[in-house]
Amino acid sequence: MKKTIEEHADRFSDIAADYDDDQSSEEYRACVSLVVEHAAPGPDDVVLDLGTGTGAIALALGPEAKRVVGRDISEGMLEQARTKAAEAGIENVEFGYGEFRAPDYDGEVDVVVSNFAMHHLSDAEKREAIEVVAATGARRFVLGDVMFFGEPDPEEPFYSPEVDDPATVGTLADALTDAGFALTAVESVHDQVGVLVAERAAGEGTEEAVVEDIEE
Ligand SMILES: C[S@@+](CC[C@H](N)C(=O)[O-])C[C@H]1O[C@@H](n2cnc3c(N)ncnc32)[C@H](O)[C@@H]1O
Repeated sequence: MKKTIEEHADRFSDIAADYDDDQSSEEYRACVSLVVEHAAPGPDDVVLDLGTGTGAIALALGPEAKRVVGRDISEGMLEQARTKAAEAGIENVEFGYGEFRAPDYDGEVDVVVSNFAMHHLSDAEKREAIEVVAATGARRFVLGDVMFFGEPDPEEPFYSPEVDDPATVGTLADALTDAGFALTAVESVHDQVGVLVAERAAGEGTEEAVVEDIEE
């Protein structure tokens, strides 16, 4: 991480009131749509949104899911998210403090999502965060983020080396598979932005898999 958690939190709290108005790029919007589409929770599913910010993903998934839990380190961003939920009358979405590597939520989780947030972590920290995601037992993890399909280029949008630390798609794919996920979709939105869909590999961690292991 190129800044401390507190520095990132303050940075986002400072811009929270204007954050939504500033997210007009086609790529950001495409990423939001793809994350929501691939998350596809059912009415009995609990969704955990890490780095939820002002709740773009969490609030879009609220009407589809049983419950959505949004976690972020910036109180200013969380406050905006809570205001938007109240204004929209969405009651099954809850926002609170939580870090990627310590989400402070130990309830049931079926689907984990994250959009435009994990690139603040170093690659080693991303790997730890992905292990935390896997440990929730979620069957699916949808990650939209700044990520490198080619060579990093600070002249291109979405990547400011002084605050961001995006990974290559290969590094993320390795971390996901090492954590027990299978990569089922890779959506390239821009050379530096994409969405990865990871599903729990071959029933791993499910009751059926445990029964099969015992029977072998
Ligand atoms: C660019 S915003 C994206 C917000 C939202 N997901 C969206 O799609 O609009 C990045 C968010 O990540 C949060 N964040 C940064 N580092 C974090 C960490 N270590 N744990 C949890 N959230 C973090 C920031 O506070 C900020 O709200």
